[in-house]
Amino acid sequence: MSRRIIPVTDLSAIPDISGAGEIPRGLLTDTLARPLRDLRISVTDRCNFRCVYCMPRAVFDKDYTFLPHSALLTFEEIERIARLFVAHGVEKIRLTGGEPLLRKNLEFLIERLARLETPDGRPLDLTLTTNGSLLQRKARGLKDAGLTRVTVSLDALDDALFRRMNDADFAVADVLDGIAEAQAVGLAPLKVNMVVKRGTNDSEIVPMARHFHGSGVVLRFIEYMDVGTSNGWNMAEVLPSAEVVERIAAHFPLAPLEAHSAAETAQRWGYADGGGEIGVISSVTRAFCGTCTRARLSTEGKLFLCLFASNGHDLRALVRSGATDAEIATAVARIWRARADRYSQLRGSEAAAQRALDERRVEMSYIGG
Ligand code: GTP
Ligand code: 5AD
Ligand code: SF4
Ligand code: SF4
Repeated sequence: MSRRIIPVTDLSAIPDISGAGEIPRGLLTDTLARPLRDLRISVTDRCNFRCVYCMPRAVFDKDYTFLPHSALLTFEEIERIARLFVAHGVEKIRLTGGEPLLRKNLEFLIERLARLETPDGRPLDLTLTTNGSLLQRKARGLKDAGLTRVTVSLDALDDALFRRMNDADFAVADVLDGIAEAQAVGLAPLKVNMVVKRGTNDSEIVPMARHFHGSGVVLRFIEYMDVGTSNGWNMAEVLPSAEVVERIAAHFPLAPLEAHSAAETAQRWGYADGGGEIGVISSVTRAFCGTCTRARLSTEGKLFLCLFASNGHDLRALVRSGATDAEIATAVARIWRARADRYSQLRGSEAAAQRALDERRVEMSYIGG
């Protein structure tokens, strides 16, 4: 039987554009005074990996129905929406998935997005999150198309463990080759994200730190999160970032570094011996909702205001209904102004626990990391 976890189009999610329009002025703030600065665009809900914490094979199996091609935003639609977000103040665009490099001709989209400029004429920070499996082949084309940098996911250096975690038999060497090629073509700074699951890959923390020490790669450790509803999340499997830092510091002394910006997800630590830096992303033990400037556009064009939201606002329906740029910009302004989401801060409270039971949250593979 065919099943889908993601709710299909809900007509009530079509944004309101009635009344007077709102002209983008490069600064929109939500109910918690958080500006709109980042847009994460998911370009496919498919992935060639089946990471146990994201697309467990038991759920994302051969009967799982992925979105049909007609449901996906076209490159023209993505560019149009992105341009309006940039007019509203977005300075960073991240392409995600699923696995974004599986989207055909992605370079053409990158070329279009790379031409966008902030209202004061600066180029965007245009980046992409990938599992790295196709990166060796694609890095040069991505760079030439105008991509600024990439972030590669890698959860272990131990090949057997890595294969178990991606559950699709991809080898560590494939990803390392992709990283090397991305560095060679100048997609910098290159970041590597490792999701840490206690009891699964925490033994890889120090080997990963040692491997990337002095390489120019910024390695970041992510606390395993309760995204979606299919990964069977359990607090006992979360290894707090403080412990990650302690374990690394026992081998390589570390000193805290200043954040690049208030909205940065990671806390930075520098190697005292000059071997570069690491980061820890503590979405569970030290929520960063207070400075969350991120909007997410799903593969089928729904605007989500939080990684943990259950519903999105249907921008695709608006675009395909023939709305003008001014109308779409107005819808985005209203949606962002009304935003009050701060799930990670509420996690653990009774209200949040109840909500999680009541609602089905979207999956990370649909909305993008
Ligand atoms: P940089 O600009 O490269 O620092 O990117 P970033 O940290 O904003 O993005 P990245 O995609 O590398 O984020 C890394 C991980 O942090 C994601 O895969 C998520 O696990 C987590 N993360 C990113 N944004 C959010 C967010 O808004 N909320 C929560 N709870 N977690 C997030
Ligand atoms: N917890 C933390 N991060 C996750 N990702 C996916 N699922 C989870 C989860 N449950 C992130 C990882 C991966 C990116 C694509 O999404 O960072 O590298
Ligand atoms: Fe793994 Fe990323 Fe694919 Fe999810 S989208 S299964 S985290 S590679
Ligand atoms: Fe932003 Fe939601 Fe993540 Fe909080 S939980 S940082 S509001 S996306």
